[in-house]
Amino acid sequence: MATSIAQAPATAASEVHSTNGQLPLTGLAGALESKLRTKTAKIGVVGLGYVGLPLAIEFAKNGFETRGIDLDRTKIDLLKKGENYIQDISNDVVRECVKKGSFTAQNDYHNAGDLDVIYICVPTPFTTNKDPDISYITGSAEMLVKELRDGQLIILKSTTFPNTTEGVVQPLLESTGKKVGEDFFLAFSPERIDPGNQKWTTSNTPIVVGGVTSACTRLAVLANEQIISKVVAVSSPKVAEMEKLLENIFRSVNIALVNELAKLCDRMGGINMWEVVEAAATKPFGFMPFYPGPGIGGHCILIDPFYLSWQARAYDFETNFITLAAETNESMPFYVKDLVFKAVAELPIRLRDAKILMVGVAFKRDVDDTRHSPAIRIMELLIDDGATNIEFTDPFVEHLWVKGRDFASKPFNAQTLQEADIVIITTDHSQYDYDFLVRNAKHVIDTRNATSKVSDPSLCDKIVLLGSGARHGRPQSVTSKKANV
Ligand SMILES: NC(=O)c1ccc[n+]([C@@H]2O[C@H](COP(=O)([O-])OP(=O)(O)OC[C@H]3O[C@@H](n4cnc5c(N)ncnc54)[C@H](O)[C@@H]3O)[C@@H](O)[C@H]2O)c1
Repeated sequence: MATSIAQAPATAASEVHSTNGQLPLTGLAGALESKLRTKTAKIGVVGLGYVGLPLAIEFAKNGFETRGIDLDRTKIDLLKKGENYIQDISNDVVRECVKKGSFTAQNDYHNAGDLDVIYICVPTPFTTNKDPDISYITGSAEMLVKELRDGQLIILKSTTFPNTTEGVVQPLLESTGKKVGEDFFLAFSPERIDPGNQKWTTSNTPIVVGGVTSACTRLAVLANEQIISKVVAVSSPKVAEMEKLLENIFRSVNIALVNELAKLCDRMGGINMWEVVEAAATKPFGFMPFYPGPGIGGHCILIDPFYLSWQARAYDFETNFITLAAETNESMPFYVKDLVFKAVAELPIRLRDAKILMVGVAFKRDVDDTRHSPAIRIMELLIDDGATNIEFTDPFVEHLWVKGRDFASKPFNAQTLQEADIVIITTDHSQYDYDFLVRNAKHVIDTRNATSKVSDPSLCDKIVLLGSGARHGRPQSVTSKKANV
């Protein structure tokens, strides 16, 4: 029994290194500790998406018998054949893990009681009114309740509002009559994966853990340490839940700030916001560069702030920074739409006849994820306002379903570019040749400063750069290369 350990005073954020200076774990906790140390613990991962599959494969690669559970039969069928669908992990590694049997996949919770550690990595979207939807978390916890066995460790990874772990998941698991910290263990450990990031991966990105009891924290730290180089323990799941939201709100607020200033630069004229950011970034301390763009997307930065602002209202508290940032970021697709209107106004055609090519529809560079992509929002707005002739090209996305229409990716070639009246660079994938793009396009709206290396003045005249402070052309001093990722 881990009772005495569970009652040990919680500490502030600190690295926890195995048993250093701590009482040994005993009973069920001790048994799980020993299974983790001997790599005989069976690992389960519920939800095999952008977060869950890389995590599961990392455990399988490191010698743990790992089982993935997902309700999506298509994904399970692919995995059973050893086929990978997540860009960031190697097809060979997935095939090898399936072949060796270190990774298996199933589309139900049958025998989840066999597993020693279970990670929950299910979606946490919002509703159409932007209220949190944690039904995937409760749905998976309800399934686990039926299989919960003494000694299991459950680690929630889905981003959510503070107190989901203790206020929602814990009561569901304890409805079995089992007690957290004694019969089973529960922790929150938010995910930090950055799809498309080659440098920071599942294994080398430090991760935070907060357990319901001290034993829960220690076991969750140990489980994560099997595959992650640095694990940071905090005093509770609530701190870990809030910490994750802070990370994403920090990005949302800072992106909103540069977006606002980009619009101001365009209003004032003569100041290029991209150059301003690059100049500010030369300060070696106290400044971190963020870049303007067509809006934010994906399953994290756009959604997560709303989880907190929704919760804050229950405390008569308005999270004004979050709301203002959301408002500014949400305005960006509308701003880009207006740039298109202005460009069309200078052509001898109407919007409905203009052929518009969206270049890059994934929500950020070099990924295939189109969830909440600002490019799609811009397409919707243009269609709403009468555009009928929109196409897209994206090396990572074959099809898009927008406003009831199926769009297929066009090849990125001279013909596609030449046929368009207006080309909008919405996502700056690194494999595009932007010089080639501008040479072949008639008019370019660049929302990412992807054309920063184009220096031929006759080509620059074709470009409208969001935040450049000039409707046509661009100051040649612009050197920035990046957009927010
Ligand atoms: N994608 C990211 O870059 C990222 C980064 C950090 C955190 N997160 C957070 O991680 C969580 C998962 O995100 P994701 O991008 O991996 O989502 P995803 O949609 O790619 O994957 C989730 C998977 O869960 C499955 N699923 C849904 N309900 C289930 C259930 N009851 N039982 C079993 N499987 C179920 C879905 O079929 C899907 O395959 C979210 O909370 C997200 O905010 C995501």
